[in-house]
Amino acid sequence: MFVSQAWPGLWRMVALALVLLVSLGVTQPVLAQADPEREAATAVGGVSPDTWRQVRSGETDANYRDTRFDTNYNLINASGEAWRQLRNRWVSPFGLIAIGGMLAMIAVFYVIVGRKELSAPRTGRKLPRWPLMVRSLHWTVATLFIVLALTGLNLLYGKFVFRPLLGDAVWGGMISASKIAHNYLGPLFGILLIVLLARLLKHNWPRKHDLEWFKKGGGMVGKAHVDAGEKLWFWLLATVGLAVIISGLVLDFPNYGQSRDTMQWANIIHGIGALGLTAVALGHIYIGTIGSEGSLEGMTTGYVDETWAKDHHNLWYEEVKDQAIGEETLASDEPTTDETAGRST
Ligand code: HEM
Repeated sequence: MFVSQAWPGLWRMVALALVLLVSLGVTQPVLAQADPEREAATAVGGVSPDTWRQVRSGETDANYRDTRFDTNYNLINASGEAWRQLRNRWVSPFGLIAIGGMLAMIAVFYVIVGRKELSAPRTGRKLPRWPLMVRSLHWTVATLFIVLALTGLNLLYGKFVFRPLLGDAVWGGMISASKIAHNYLGPLFGILLIVLLARLLKHNWPRKHDLEWFKKGGGMVGKAHVDAGEKLWFWLLATVGLAVIISGLVLDFPNYGQSRDTMQWANIIHGIGALGLTAVALGHIYIGTIGSEGSLEGMTTGYVDETWAKDHHNLWYEEVKDQAIGEETLASDEPTTDETAGRST
């Protein structure tokens, strides 16, 4: 009896000691880094306006080393200051405006226009839209995108929100975890997004009727029957998305001899592209969920109702209407999805 009561207490002590030991290991280097006195002592030792003038005027050599190079190995990069200004004064506010603006627009749109309902009751007959392969790729890419967006936002804005809120030690752990997750998941996202885009390329090839969709304002307002919204999203991912992936790889692998200037430009392109995509992704997520009735089930079950197909992709509906399957048949045995599934016409 005595032993069984003493053991839980002992284990609690051991567990506590372990937690303390681990947290000491994690927080000490972080606190050391966060000590401004120590940072200043090991970083730039008193850079005078004169030194800056010297660097800017090009009196120093091309690798930006100042005249004190021989003694204390300071590196000064005038374009680094230009990059810092660009990042802090333009990229950061742009992100807040784009993402905050998009959230506000979606909220106002939802309140004023509301959810786009189906124009007629469901027929109960289903059309195969997205095969399992596309659905698996879509949800993996979407999950990775959301993790990258959250960790990326933390890298840019987290210190203003979480550092004062949680303190240096927790913030230190949080930001290093964000950085590691972002750096390692980025290339995986890049590869999978390219595979997804390659798989969807032939369905998204621009056609003449896509122009009509633009003229009708995108099919969210009124009775517009040609719907090419996903095509726009596709091509945004195929252009801006690719730029974000390439610039991300330039930043992720600095060991290929790229210059500081290249890294700075990669950072600016990566920031603007990723923040812009995050803003548009919010629109995509809105339309895919609460914004339009019946869209999400295509990407979850693989099938859409005939009424949805007629409303959103009338040309695609004309091509595939013969393949409609009754709900009961679908529940009893799963037919294979066809090549024409997933077309954005
Ligand atoms: C939770 C978040 C998301 C939801 C609920 C969602 C929902 C959907 C839905 C319902 C569709 C099918 C539309 C249709 O059948 O016409 C779709 C298509 C698609 N989504 Fe998402 N999505 C999300 C996030 C993302 C993200 C983050 C990406 C990319 C980074 C993405 C990329 C795509 C692509 C490429 C398509 C296919 C467009 C086409 O070729 O027609 N989605 N999504």
